[in-house]
Amino acid sequence: MCGIIGYSGNLEAEQVLISGLEQLEYRGYDSAGIARMTRDAVEITKTTGNVSALKRKLEEKATLTSHCGIGHTRWATHGGVTEENAHPHRFGKITLIHNGIIENYKKIREDYGKGTRFCSQTDTEIAAMLMDTFYDGNPEEAIWKTTAKLEGSYAFCVLFEDIPNVVYCIRKVSPLVAAYAKEGAFVASDVTALIAYTQDYFVVPEDTILVLTDEKAELHNQKGNVVKPEMLHVKWDFASAQKNGYPHYMLKEIYEQPEALQRTIAPRMKENIPDFEDDQIPDSIFESIQQVKIVACGTAMHAGLIGKVLIEKRVRIPVGVEIASEFRYADPIIDQKTLVIVISQSGETIDTLASLRLAKELGAVTIGIVNVKGSTIARESDYVFYTHAGPEIAVASTKAYTVQIAALCLLTMRLALIKKTLGRGEITRDFALLKESIECVKHALLLEPEIQKMTACLTEASDLFFIGRGIDYALSCEGSIKLKEISYIHSEAYAAGELKHGTISLITEGVPVIAIATQESVFSKMVSNIREVKARGAKVILITKESMQVEESIFDYHFTIPEIADDYTPIPAAVILQLIAYHTSVRRGLNVDQPRNLAKSVTVE
Ligand code: F6R
Repeated sequence: MCGIIGYSGNLEAEQVLISGLEQLEYRGYDSAGIARMTRDAVEITKTTGNVSALKRKLEEKATLTSHCGIGHTRWATHGGVTEENAHPHRFGKITLIHNGIIENYKKIREDYGKGTRFCSQTDTEIAAMLMDTFYDGNPEEAIWKTTAKLEGSYAFCVLFEDIPNVVYCIRKVSPLVAAYAKEGAFVASDVTALIAYTQDYFVVPEDTILVLTDEKAELHNQKGNVVKPEMLHVKWDFASAQKNGYPHYMLKEIYEQPEALQRTIAPRMKENIPDFEDDQIPDSIFESIQQVKIVACGTAMHAGLIGKVLIEKRVRIPVGVEIASEFRYADPIIDQKTLVIVISQSGETIDTLASLRLAKELGAVTIGIVNVKGSTIARESDYVFYTHAGPEIAVASTKAYTVQIAALCLLTMRLALIKKTLGRGEITRDFALLKESIECVKHALLLEPEIQKMTACLTEASDLFFIGRGIDYALSCEGSIKLKEISYIHSEAYAAGELKHGTISLITEGVPVIAIATQESVFSKMVSNIREVKARGAKVILITKESMQVEESIFDYHFTIPEIADDYTPIPAAVILQLIAYHTSVRRGLNVDQPRNLAKSVTVE
């Protein structure tokens, strides 16, 4: 949560900070601010609202030449959305921005700030006060002394009023990456803000201070020694993180799915069998596995629900799918014979990260399915399976979800091969089906105009239901979250057979029900469930495979995906659900890419 950027170099700081914040805005957009350094002052501009509001405020100010500064886009944790609570915060000689939560800020305020009048309600201002208390001309010492007192998570970028054109940074848990390019030195919450300048960057290690000057981005350990960074290279470029003519990032990312799937699947194909040699995931780790736990949050967890169906069916070992924020406090039953798969697009979700750490402590073998290269979960997992979706900027996850499913399909196949529950012939067939799903996605994208028209009937709905059975139920969960997060229409996902145990009382005249019925084995049961809701006046939007025969009387709208084996239908069917959510949100005139109260990367509990 919260996007942060810091810069020292030869460009105008305002320009670098603002364009960086625009790239990072998906991390939080309650308020935004920058601090620019000149030889004798630090000038702060901040406001509630998004980066455009900040730009407008800057336009009203006199021009200021500065080549060094810090910027922040906020997702409120401590204190409401007010200008006072927006970052940067200044206390004495210190101006800083923060991403994270200082858990013991009250105690610090009591110990060091008694009688002090603070301008904001934030934990961040308390950290600035503490650093100012410890600062006597030696910035690094002040930082070490401050962080020694702090409990919680943080990424700080700090300006010391009397040290011109230098940004000091430190982090614990919350992410920070840095780079040096011909334009100067940069630090940011993630690489999307740096990509306009360079594709080579490094993750700032914990327990080091990053010092940015116009000549370098240097890491210092607590003894004051220079630490060599471990450089990373990001394959995508600035253009990949732009809208490229699409009205919203979400739509662009929905359309990117065929390539994203191809990039995730193709490099793992050797003789038509999934192979993870290049991922450095050895077969030996699968041999003794007796159970699998998939741990994740939100959409990533929903991908896990699909993974459970696939693994249990093909490998015949028990799979539990756990919500990370529950798992980490639930005293889970796992041991060395458990494979824990954590799934995270960002690789930074705090609950998923904590679950990973717990699983490792308990001796499980861990694999991270992660999209963002070099992210914390990627670094800390025993093994990492990168999805290659490219940058996902819209808050609502789309392409990351379908590639996560593809990753789980591939892992299932390899696990089945090692466990000998499937033969090579069967796996080759499975692999071909997975590749076929990419073509089906292209077909699903062609439905966009029809889907767009249909969504006219959803815009006024106050409640909506998704129903399905088996793997379609797992997909319903994803359809429901996607719709509610960006359209603000209340929706729920139900196992179709469970509906009449309570929820069917909510189905009345005109209530939309999105029925996913792509599974041959339970198709007739689904049709009965659809009849039940239709009989109570529901407006049914039905999704099936092309070949499935359905009477017109049971639906109001019908969308089909091409013929494909049952286990692979979620990949194309997901596209239909994404487009339904997208167009409903657009019709309701909402901010599709930045829905209220949400942020892309959830780095607080
Ligand atoms: C929904 C959505 C969230 C994320 C969840 C986990 O569209 O994007 O539910 O899936 O916050 O995020 P990652 O995958 O980054 O761990």
